[in-house]
Amino acid sequence: MKRMVSGIKPTGELTLGNYIGALRNFVKYQDDFDLYVFIANLHCVTVPIEPAELRKNLKDAIALYLACGLDPEKCTIFLQSDVLEHAQLGWLLTCMTYMGELNRMTQFKEKTHNQQDESIGAGLFVYPSLMAADILLYDADYVPVGNDQKQHVELARDLAQRFNNRYSETFVVPEPKIAEVGARIMSLSDPNKKMSKSEESNKGCIYLLDDLNVARKKVMSAVTDNLAQVKYDKENQPGISNLLEIMSSLSSESIESICSRFEGKGYGDFKAAVADVVCEELAKIQSKYHDIINSDMIETVLKDGAEKAHKQAFKKLKKVQKKMGIDIM
Ligand code: TYM
Repeated sequence: MKRMVSGIKPTGELTLGNYIGALRNFVKYQDDFDLYVFIANLHCVTVPIEPAELRKNLKDAIALYLACGLDPEKCTIFLQSDVLEHAQLGWLLTCMTYMGELNRMTQFKEKTHNQQDESIGAGLFVYPSLMAADILLYDADYVPVGNDQKQHVELARDLAQRFNNRYSETFVVPEPKIAEVGARIMSLSDPNKKMSKSEESNKGCIYLLDDLNVARKKVMSAVTDNLAQVKYDKENQPGISNLLEIMSSLSSESIESICSRFEGKGYGDFKAAVADVVCEELAKIQSKYHDIINSDMIETVLKDGAEKAHKQAFKKLKKVQKKMGIDIM
């Protein structure tokens, strides 16, 4: 079985973008791949965050992994910080990463564009090297992610190749696995920006735990255009195209078929149909989430997951240390 590794960084509540671009795909892949999925809590602290808020987000994220259908019998679910090898290999790979590579990371540039160097945490800068460690520790063949993480996975590939060339064959060179539809869900209030938990106004972002009336309202007030046609045209109709991607991803109905179904109909009808599909999906997830969050399942899943992940990570790290000569015997 080919192996897959991926993670989510819950600095805020999980979003519909996380679900469509990543989580939903993990659930599909767990049957056919040896899947390792973790919560990237070490990445969460690259920006300031209140401990109580972080703890709640982490617990919610695990509960949502399970509520969305990840099955601990089929995949390995764990917390990044529970497997100490992530930080270790992260440091070793940081030492092999060039400043120029990190300077080119668009996420870093976006996150720091109006900040002075004096106040930018160094962790945010070296973030992609730790992410490379997350991937390379497990010999992942594929990394299922949304579009915004592609550049980070490419760095992981470069680091794997650099290490293999310098110290002999050690790491599997991973490939990003990006879905054709839904890899970049856009903000409902500004369809030229990615839907993101760090958005200033909450209106453009649907959270998986949003009250259903709130989620419906967000869809109904999504920014569209005045062309009055339900057509997939990202350039001229980014808002409508985004709603089409959301609806198609969640319903498995093709974009083409949705467009023909809504030919000649108004945007109000179309948005109401998108809202129905979104709310139906959220309702399913939320009802499972409430059962899980009040059970002791999370603790058991994380303990078993970390044990299994550690076995693999430990072996890999030992091998890396030996090749680099930082062990003595
Ligand atoms: P994060 O937490 O920002 O996002 C988690 C996953 O959700 C996807 N995603 C989206 N997909 C489509 N549309 C959107 N609007 C949208 N927003 C987010 C992301 O592409 C991602 O797949 N650095 C990572 C976490 C991480 C990781 C890793 C991922 C740490 N180590 C190793 C893979 C492998 C991050 O911040 O994702």
